[in-house]
Amino acid sequence: MLIEKHKDKITEILGRYPEKRAALLPLLWLAQEEHGHVSEAAMKEIAGVLDLTPPQVYETVTFYTMLNRQPIGKFHIQVCRSLMCALVGTEQLLGWIHAKLGIKPGQTTPDGLFTLSQVECLASCGTGPMMQVNDDYFEQLTQEKLNRILDDLKRDGKSPLATGPFMFPVPQHMNR
Ligand code: FES
Repeated sequence: MLIEKHKDKITEILGRYPEKRAALLPLLWLAQEEHGHVSEAAMKEIAGVLDLTPPQVYETVTFYTMLNRQPIGKFHIQVCRSLMCALVGTEQLLGWIHAKLGIKPGQTTPDGLFTLSQVECLASCGTGPMMQVNDDYFEQLTQEKLNRILDDLKRDGKSPLATGPFMFPVPQHMNR
């Protein structure tokens, strides 16, 4: 159980806030770090700790796409579908991912490595089309670059093509 296992950490998190309910997101994140997703059981536990109802916790989980309600693959690919990225190739990017991995949004590869989601703006609007994989951003994507990234992740667990949303000036390797 989440609470039993992380008693000290939860006490520390609660101590940061004047009101218990303010600790909701950090506790949800803790649950996700533990299991890769936030299960209904974890939501109920967290509701109990914070004196919230389970639906109050559930509605928060469903609001944030960074919180997963189902088990996901080792690499969570989140493709931005908001306007600026859509204008420069979200659909193409989804097509390239499908061509390479055979999955559509909401699906996971049979080997459990990759899960694909579509999300709203990731605050990297000038460098689309882009995606986030776990904690890393990958920007100004082309099919060649995407294939290299996916091969890197599969082979090494990380890719040197990862960028961050606040890297200025733009690194040399990102210039097309
Ligand atoms: S529109 Fe894609 S990151 Fe903002």
